[in-house]
Amino acid sequence: MIAHDAPLTVRSSQGDYTVEPFAGVAALAAAVAAVPEPFVIVDERVAALYGDAFAAFAHAPRHMLPATESEKTLHGVERALLALQAARGSKRTTVVAIGGGIVQDVSTLSAHLWYRGVPYVYVPTTLLAMADSCIGAKSAVNLGAFKNQLGTFQSPQRVLVCERFVDTLDADDVRSGYGEIVKLAIIDSAGAYARLRDDVTATGFRGPFLAAHVRASLETKRRIIEIDEYERDLRRILNYGHTFGHALESVTENAVPHGLAVAWGVDVANFVAWRLGLLERAVYEDVHAFIARCFAFRPARAYDAAAIVAAMKRDKKASAGSVALFLPHALGDVRVVPTPLDATLEAVIADYVAAEDVFAR
Ligand SMILES: NC(=O)c1ccc[n+]([C@@H]2O[C@H](COP(=O)([O-])OP(=O)(O)OC[C@H]3O[C@@H](n4cnc5c(N)ncnc54)[C@H](O)[C@@H]3O)[C@@H](O)[C@H]2O)c1
Repeated sequence: MIAHDAPLTVRSSQGDYTVEPFAGVAALAAAVAAVPEPFVIVDERVAALYGDAFAAFAHAPRHMLPATESEKTLHGVERALLALQAARGSKRTTVVAIGGGIVQDVSTLSAHLWYRGVPYVYVPTTLLAMADSCIGAKSAVNLGAFKNQLGTFQSPQRVLVCERFVDTLDADDVRSGYGEIVKLAIIDSAGAYARLRDDVTATGFRGPFLAAHVRASLETKRRIIEIDEYERDLRRILNYGHTFGHALESVTENAVPHGLAVAWGVDVANFVAWRLGLLERAVYEDVHAFIARCFAFRPARAYDAAAIVAAMKRDKKASAGSVALFLPHALGDVRVVPTPLDATLEAVIADYVAAEDVFAR
């Protein structure tokens, strides 16, 4: 691992791009001010919190975006594009997106569509976006009742990262970011998982190791996306925890922050892997204890195994009564396992929900 304050370059067939670390928000704002012909799309909460710190680019035209799933739609993209049109954007505009995954997804698609594509610079302000979604070039918006159904692969031109944004995040949004960090650590190796578990246990989520874990997550994800940029094969394992997590988000109508749903989904996937004889029980139990201790959440809406399986049948990775599950065979060894969406799987999930559920009410 290289120092976490060094730039990290991601190779992409659309053009390589660099994740550039900044020690403070003011230095980052100066970099934004130097972007040619910027159009800023910014999370309205972030704009309110960082108004003074963003003074360097106060002159830039901007669109304020509420970070809600209902804004992450074609309507939200249209609102952003109408604001860009009203600001007399051109083919030389660079979209600068400042916010979490919702701002990222709306802005990426907007930049992709404006005059058939202009560059975008991304400033992630949530931990989830810093540690995971800011690289990989995926973007998606919701369509009707279905999450992330429309999207593109569109690489950013640059990613500007400052961990100080985490200071103002709500506790659940910090835990949510760690949900994706846990996922990536388990995908990476037993050592990465043990380091993460021990650091978080010793010093909490906002401890001195945060920057190192952000960096480790990005390096794990980079290793995978540089081999399989367009998710034809290896990159699919980044969906570990997501099949169950998306089902939980769906049945609770997004009452669970995305990364916490992923942490829940990782635990369910590990339980299923253990029950299928793929994963040692001791590994399941170690990760289960960590997730139960650090990622517990009480969704406002109740759910059961039947509802989870019904939602999985609507998953975009399900077809002909079967779904691709991403199941660990060991720490550092997550594999794709096509699995029938049948009574057997529902019974295993029912056992989990009845006796093991880290989100139990
Ligand atoms: N494109 C991808 O690769 C990808 C990957 C993972 C998730 N996602 C999507 O990202 C979305 C979730 O994104 P997210 O978890 O980053 O958060 P978010 O964009 O939903 O924001 C979460 C909350 O944090 C607030 N916020 C953002 N930055 C803040 C700051 N610095 N201080 C205080 N509050 C701040 C927001 O206003 C919001 O209330 C989901 O829609 C998910 O599907 C996309």
